[in-house]
Amino acid sequence: MKKLTMDTIVNLCKNRGFVFQGSEIYGGFANTWDFGPVGVELKNNIKRAWWKRFVQEDPNCYGVDAAILMNPKVWEASGHVQNFGDPKMDCKNCKTRHRADTIIENFSKGTVSAEGMTNEEMEKYIEEHDIKCPICGKRDWTQIRKFNPMFTTSRNMVGDDKDIVYLRPETCQGEYVNFLNVQRTMRAKVPFAIAQIGKSFRNEITPGNFLFRTVEFEQMELQMFCKQDNSIDIYNSYKEKALKFVEDLGLKAENLRFHDHDKLAHYAKAACDIQFNFPIGWQELNGIHNRGNWDLSRHSEFSGKNMDYLDPFTNEKFTPNVVEYSIGADRLTLAVLCQAYDEETLENGETRIVMHLSPAIAPFKVAVLPLQKILSEKAKEVYSILSKEFMCDYDEAGSIGKRYRRQDEIGTPYCVTIDFETLDNETVTIRDRDSMEQIRININDLCDYINKKIKFN
Ligand code: GAP
Repeated sequence: MKKLTMDTIVNLCKNRGFVFQGSEIYGGFANTWDFGPVGVELKNNIKRAWWKRFVQEDPNCYGVDAAILMNPKVWEASGHVQNFGDPKMDCKNCKTRHRADTIIENFSKGTVSAEGMTNEEMEKYIEEHDIKCPICGKRDWTQIRKFNPMFTTSRNMVGDDKDIVYLRPETCQGEYVNFLNVQRTMRAKVPFAIAQIGKSFRNEITPGNFLFRTVEFEQMELQMFCKQDNSIDIYNSYKEKALKFVEDLGLKAENLRFHDHDKLAHYAKAACDIQFNFPIGWQELNGIHNRGNWDLSRHSEFSGKNMDYLDPFTNEKFTPNVVEYSIGADRLTLAVLCQAYDEETLENGETRIVMHLSPAIAPFKVAVLPLQKILSEKAKEVYSILSKEFMCDYDEAGSIGKRYRRQDEIGTPYCVTIDFETLDNETVTIRDRDSMEQIRININDLCDYINKKIKFN
């Protein structure tokens, strides 16, 4: 297969019901995307798999679903009001906006990291290397300034800006502020974790590349509260767990790598990303951070509530450290889509597009297809049995070959075909998406057969 491009994935998503442009009939709304009937199933399955792995299967992890709008003091405590944001500069000639660190890193083809540079150092580098605007080719930059990407709204009916409220730019603050509630109600002992999945909002300077960087996205975040002494071991264990999770979703080892951060926040002890080889190159898929006790200390300071933990075994009192694991559900969905896409040349010379999605996260587990319309009554009977257990598609229009191709393109792992033999002996054929092989099976055995194949372990 030739090198996969983002356009190929965008087109497939649009034409097969995975993802549509946001507000499309109004000409769109930049960098917003709507998940369609097929895409919403895929993303929900990915979120469910994450929840199962990290919350359901861990007796020491508790889920929450915190409010998006939080007391604005939360964002002062977290440092977002003062320090959040990326260094931006505008091209005065073509009036486009850019991230200075990205401009430097792209110019140096990744050999220079701007992570630790001050604005002055970046300006000097850009001048010394005569780095021009990638859009118009001129070097006519404004000064570099910090741009705070938090979206604001207001609860003030009068409409002045005294009562600014922020749309959360990350979900983890909802986990920190509930540390005491969860610890008390669940009688949780450190180390324990709080996890949630929810929407975050960032007015990014350079959004783009489809679902990769958007202004509204979902995060799956987990904070493990622990003693400082075990934080390194816990950090390393989450690096491994995070890698295993994405491999189990079907991302191939050769397309994944760790990227340890050189420059750390002043409170952090270690930080790394897992990167995925997207069609746009190696990019961050998720982050794992050993954050010291910064988060709970700051919330103690700003809220006036003591967030220390009293160890019932040692009687020791301390502010727990945090190991954070954070991954974007939309960005992970994009990685899964890119990994699954394949164009196969068949024996007859035709090309088939097939999404080799792991059956556990495939949007539809099975499609029910009557060979001819005359068999639709029996087919609907089979559909009503299967749809009680799984997301099923039903399709009776067009040639059976074309219907199989359509299911291949949305990654349906199994197609059940109802033919004339079904009327005689209650058997159907079941076709495997990847091998295209078919076997005959009794209708009563279908649910067990499919259930065994689609478990996420
Ligand atoms: N609480 C830590 C935090 O939010 P982050 O590295 O800014 O850390 C974590 O974000 C993950 O969220 C990223 O690794 C990425 O998967 C996802 N993410 C961040 N910004 C995003 C955006 N604008 N669009 C889509 N996903 C995004």
